[in-house]
Order: sequence, then C-alpha cells, then structure tokens
Amino acid sequence: MLEGNHDERPRKYLASRAPALAAEDTFYRFETLLDFPAFDVKKAEPYYPLAPGWVAVHGHESPGMSQVAGATARLKAAKAGISIVMGHTHRLAIAPHTTGHNGKLRTIYGFEVGHLMDVRQAGYLKNGPANWQKGFGLFYVGKYNATPHAIPIEDDGSFVVEGQRYGEIKRGPRGKFISKGGKA
Ligand SMILES: [Fe+2]
Repeated sequence: MLEGNHDERPRKYLASRAPALAAEDTFYRFETLLDFPAFDVKKAEPYYPLAPGWVAVHGHESPGMSQVAGATARLKAAKAGISIVMGHTHRLAIAPHTTGHNGKLRTIYGFEVGHLMDVRQAGYLKNGPANWQKGFGLFYVGKYNATPHAIPIEDDGSFVVEGQRYGEIKRGPRGKFISKGGKA
C-alpha cells in the first residue's frame, strides 16, 4: 500500500512540531496506525513497480494537478518515461502519451483509478460540485506488459467487469437511480 497525503499527516505533523520525538517514533506512521502486519500488508515506496512497464504512486509526491481526468497521470508518466497508475485526483481515466517518429512509436499511459468514497459523506465539499468519478483500476498482467482497464462504479454501487455485473442494480422503472428515500 502506498502512503497518500492524508496517510502521512500524523508522521509529518510530529516531524514538524516535535522533531525530537519524531526521530525515534514509529507509532505515528500509517503502517502502524492501520496495523499493516496483522493484515499482511506492506508499505510500498512511490514509483513501486506494479507490473511490467508500470509504476504506482499515490499522486501527491510531485506537484501538478489537472482538472481533466487522466491528464495529471499522463503528465507524470511523460516526465517519468514509464506508465503510471495513481489515485489522489479522485478521477477515473486512462490517458495515453505517444512519442516517436518514422513509424516507430511508443505509447505509455497515465491511469487515474477513481475513488471509492461515499461523496455524500464528504463534508468538505459542502454539497458543492466535484469532478470525481467512483471506480477502480484493473490490470491484466503479462510477462512483458500489462493492459489497464478503468472500471466505473454506478451510483448504486454496481459495476461491470468482463461483461458481468457485480452488485444489485437499484433503479426505478425509468432507469433513474433510487435515492436514499427510495424514490426514483
Ligand atoms: Fe491524495
């Protein structure tokens, strides 16, 4: 698991406000607070080699954020020279970047894997707009490369992978999503 900007807050807070304690501390690290060993989870460093031709970052490690889904990851991929998969933007898109000439082309990708939030619980949005997409990323990993898929999640929580729908469709007769009150 990669450390995100929210995950690093306790560690960074201690380092800035109590550096003498931070030098010895292991408690205020997210891998301790979330008890990684109990779940057999390991902390990964940014640019973690996820699959052939792909590295994973959370997305906050270097500056730059686009409002266009996929564009943040594409820019980071172009800079790093390798396909990048990341979170952080809460947007869901695969954006290619191709370089080359004379018919010799090479394509790398920036992949933003969406979010798994209940956006109604995000009080800091204050019911305002957010250009976010619920979803996740899926990779078919081969020996020499990996094929990325972006999987969108519907408002009712259902999604489709390889033609199969997971989760129950909760819509009214005209196809509208059913709200919490049960009305379509
Ligand atoms: Fe983030």
